Amino acid sequence: MSVVIKSGSELDVMRQAGRINAEVRALLRAAVRPGISGVELDRIAREAIAERGAEPTFIGYAPGGKPPYPGAICFSVNEQLVHGIPTERVLKEGDIVSIDLGVTYQGYVADAAFTAPVGAVSGEARELIRVTEEALWAGIAEVRVGGHVGDLSHAIGSRAGRYGIIADYGGHGVGRHMHEEPHIPNSGRKGTGHKLKAGMVLALEPMFSIGHPATVEESDRWTVRMRDGSLSAHFEETVAVTEAGPEVLTRIE
Ligand code: MF3
Ligand code: CO
Repeated sequence: MSVVIKSGSELDVMRQAGRINAEVRALLRAAVRPGISGVELDRIAREAIAERGAEPTFIGYAPGGKPPYPGAICFSVNEQLVHGIPTERVLKEGDIVSIDLGVTYQGYVADAAFTAPVGAVSGEARELIRVTEEALWAGIAEVRVGGHVGDLSHAIGSRAGRYGIIADYGGHGVGRHMHEEPHIPNSGRKGTGHKLKAGMVLALEPMFSIGHPATVEESDRWTVRMRDGSLSAHFEETVAVTEAGPEVLTRIE
């Protein structure tokens, strides 16, 4: 499958999907606190998505023989990196949690994630979150017509400093499908990879760890955690490539 270019009317629908994703993420962020469980956050997401006439993209997603994903969100705590299945596990003060949300509206997907502290967290955890989010915005800042995927990868990877850069996962094109070409690694060389064209829509998703960047899949076949048990963080936004530069679709003022 090659890179899909979206028309103006498709981008309009993706803007609406992005807005819904942003609104629901804001509700989830506000709900993060000690004592809340993954299942409760998942319910908040399901209700808010339905109220907005959209669908949860992740439910039932089953690539390559995996069991269908059961949640509307991914809920990944501490050393869990991504794709954590929401359970009755409750957040406690000092945890950090990555919440990933896919929203489908009129057939188009908006995909975005954030990592949040639960109450007061260690300085080490705060710093990891800050640097990972900055890497996302550094990548977004490089989005321009005529640029290359490698420019984004380089910008993200060069912000990692002493942190591990997870090589097993990365960003991707997004549109009618949650995962379209191109793959966007979280490190790379400027001027390499796919050329960016107006109408491409990309989900950038940096993931950094305090320790070694190797990951393992848990026995639920979805949850990905750091092999060495170190803390990890993850941010994601869906961004359109336009003649005027990056347009972040999953953000509202
Ligand atoms: N945003 C993630 C990604 O891009 C999560 C999708 S995995 C799912 O890979 F199973 F939850 F759908
Ligand atoms: Co994604």
